[in-house]
Amino acid sequence: MKVLGIAGSLRPGSFNRKLLLAAARAVPRAIRLELWDGLDDLPAYAEQIDGDRPPPGVQALREAIDAADAVLIATPEYNASIPGALKNALDGASRPYPDNALKGKPTAVVGASTGPFGAVWAQADLRRVLKTIGARVVDTDMPIGSAHHAFDETGQIRDPAQRKRLADIIRELIDLAGRQAARAA
Ligand code: FNR
Repeated sequence: MKVLGIAGSLRPGSFNRKLLLAAARAVPRAIRLELWDGLDDLPAYAEQIDGDRPPPGVQALREAIDAADAVLIATPEYNASIPGALKNALDGASRPYPDNALKGKPTAVVGASTGPFGAVWAQADLRRVLKTIGARVVDTDMPIGSAHHAFDETGQIRDPAQRKRLADIIRELIDLAGRQAARAA
């Protein structure tokens, strides 16, 4: 089973990218979690640049989602919501509607912020956007607050309770994807 990891940050040293790397370590051996690195390659989404020949970056994102059994998105919080770059990517992934790559796709949301609340508003907004697009979204969130203190020098999440929560969300996502694959077989 393949999980596509999408970090909603373009920042070198992003804590959300770190969170996905921690998730990649936490997945069971039979699961591959691959990080998608194309966020910077996307033009500002507009309907007139889409169609029979979508921009290559948008097409690559749609194909990466298509090829994955599940998607795990780590979102920063910008001004109490998701960053524009991530919303732009999701707008591109949402078309053609309703038969887009995210339709019915098992998806989970996690988030890290340097503030105390761990990007909870961004995660709630992201789940709402994903449900609108048609993804099947795990309802549990994963707030990592004070993200600049949350990881040790090896990239491991310091707090065992947070490590367990991340493992639980990954299990929920994988179970959802497994049930979906079994139904489709
Ligand atoms: C932030 N940050 C922030 N943090 C938070 O908890 N709530 C917020 O509303 C905001 N708003 C916000 C707006 C903008 C424009 C920036 C640049 C930053 C801080 C944010 O959590 C911090 O920069 C994280 O490190 C961003 O995540 P990455 O890039 O490390 O993954």
